[in-house]
Amino acid sequence: MLIDFEQEDAANRHAALVKAIESADKAYYQDDAPSMDDGEYDKLRKELLEIESKYPALAAQSPSQKVGAKPSEGFKKVQHAVPMLSLSNVFSEDDVSDFLTRVRKFLGLSEDEPLEIIAEPKIDGLSCSLRYENRILVQAATRGDGQEGEDITANINTIDEIPKTLPDDAPDILEVRGEIYMGKADFKALNDKQEAAGKPPFANPRNAAAGSVRQLDSAITAARPIRFFGYALGQVSESFAKTHFDIRQKLKQWGIPETGYAVCGSVKEIMDHYESILEGRADLDFDIDGVVYKVNRLDYQERLGFVARAPRWATAHKFPAEQAITRINTIDIQVGRTGALTPVARLEPVTVGGVVVSNATLHNADEIKRKDIRIGDMVVIQRAGDVIPQVVKVLADKREGDLPEYEFPTHCPECGSAAIREGDDVVTRCTGGLVCPAQAVERLKHFVSRLAFDIDGLGAKIIEQFYEDGLITNPDDIFTLESRNKNTLTPIRAREGWGDTSEKKLFQSINERREIAFNRFIYALGIRQVGEATAKRLAATYGDLPALISAMTAAKDSESEAYQDLINIEDIGPAVAQDLIAFFNEDHNIPILVALDAHLDIQPFTLPTNSDSPVAGKTLVFTGTLTKTTRQEAKAKAESLGAKVSGSVSKKTDYVIAGEDAGSKLKKAKDLEIEVLSEDDWIALIA
Ligand code: IVH
Repeated sequence: MLIDFEQEDAANRHAALVKAIESADKAYYQDDAPSMDDGEYDKLRKELLEIESKYPALAAQSPSQKVGAKPSEGFKKVQHAVPMLSLSNVFSEDDVSDFLTRVRKFLGLSEDEPLEIIAEPKIDGLSCSLRYENRILVQAATRGDGQEGEDITANINTIDEIPKTLPDDAPDILEVRGEIYMGKADFKALNDKQEAAGKPPFANPRNAAAGSVRQLDSAITAARPIRFFGYALGQVSESFAKTHFDIRQKLKQWGIPETGYAVCGSVKEIMDHYESILEGRADLDFDIDGVVYKVNRLDYQERLGFVARAPRWATAHKFPAEQAITRINTIDIQVGRTGALTPVARLEPVTVGGVVVSNATLHNADEIKRKDIRIGDMVVIQRAGDVIPQVVKVLADKREGDLPEYEFPTHCPECGSAAIREGDDVVTRCTGGLVCPAQAVERLKHFVSRLAFDIDGLGAKIIEQFYEDGLITNPDDIFTLESRNKNTLTPIRAREGWGDTSEKKLFQSINERREIAFNRFIYALGIRQVGEATAKRLAATYGDLPALISAMTAAKDSESEAYQDLINIEDIGPAVAQDLIAFFNEDHNIPILVALDAHLDIQPFTLPTNSDSPVAGKTLVFTGTLTKTTRQEAKAKAESLGAKVSGSVSKKTDYVIAGEDAGSKLKKAKDLEIEVLSEDDWIALIA
């Protein structure tokens, strides 16, 4: 082999420059103690870039790719090729056992067939997706809403322990999903530095890590000690593993930092591992908030698929909450968008697990009575992860004198309407409906929130002000704001704190959201008990708004087919059905829905993948006993291929899949001349 001396010299000089620049960067950014003057530093960087322009291969691990990048104008949005999901939770041994039972049942595995679970620590950070194309790191993105995140490539490039290139055996396209976090010692040192510089400290390592990656100036990120650990894959161009274990091995070989894990075969092994991680928690240099369990076999993972935003093949076992003692200074009542009156304890601020807590939810009147909570009491509070802190119990022996019992209000503190409890509902609700400003304002806030319309620049505070001034009193007002603003003597730009630019920006972000997915639209309406998952199911079942409205109008009659169809949707029972029907049959709501439909471009629901599958858009009914898969798996498979699965046969049914011993539904299908498939026909159809 020929040796290229010129190139070898260049590489040596390059290495020396890298060393000098890195040490100057550290002195400047991390130690706040510059070691050379700017002119000298610039000269070194210039020479470095000259060498790299001649020998681009040298640039891969060079400081030229990291610090000093120019601040960008906000973050670019990134569409995730494969959605970034969250995890369901379990809290006890029984929950763990239920999780395994559910998995076995779904897969149709008997008790004595092996089912391996990988248990790994749940790092308390923020998730991130690293995308490698042709083995070069080309993009890093935050999770965002799971579908769309923010491009933080420049910042991730400053993290040394993340490889910027991968070895030859890595696939052409590889997305590594993992967690960005900050070590405990690094966090403490950073906060000391913040405080010394007169800046506010970060509440916890997670916030510090998040604040560090979300810097527009990557030089700031570079100076922050953030780290990464990989635990899953996103898009991959070719499969290279049969198990999660294989994935972990490969990631390790490719230089992706990772934590330990254990292979468990039973509830007992899982619980033993959980206990040992819990015990060792304090000795770790990073915060963990639980243990994640993942079904090891990837073919099982594939079959198990997802429910809403979380995989069926994984779950998180959260650690018990952390507790502290403090005093209840007063109890306030908050009125939510559904009119629920929620008592909130205002606390003497106290630190719980590194976070200052000054509010705790008291849930409802019964809870206050049951725990005999009184204003002035000393209480034990606890917080677990991101959930709102709770009051565990009152320290009765610390009660000073005669504190009066707490009297739950009989009227809404916002509008004065009677507040009542219906039937055996534990929640006290304001009966003020549309006249209650709290409900209207809370509904509006929900309408513009992140998982709903996600309108930038129309946050809670502005909604409150605009509501108070009569500018926005119902959701449709948001979309007529611009045209009304044109013909008024008091335009938004003339308001305090506003100007031409901010006004323009606001209308821009509103207009950007006129196009909206049907499921988000449904979720945005804030109908009681209709969360994201239910909204998705409704969108998938009814397709568009006019169809949904007419179905809900027809479903008012509980004898109707429309009602049957509604309660046949997974997770929609009579209670949710009642809330939906009430919402869509409320006279005040229909005109607003119609106006919204006119001002918006509501995208009919299409399943993200497989819209070209043979059953996409078809309505199927499974009946009888399936022998090759479980009913649950067959249904999930059909839905993942874009089909609607219904519980009853009607004229709208496209196929009936009849297993063994099919009865009345099969007969009805024949009567209605609907195509009937055997289980084998079905498997062949979707193969
Ligand atoms: S797996 C489909 N594994 O926890 C796979 N997540 O509460 C989804 N997290 O969004 C994630 N450690 O940000 C996984 N070992 C681990 C994790 C982990 C921390 C985070 C992740 C996820 C969140 C869900």
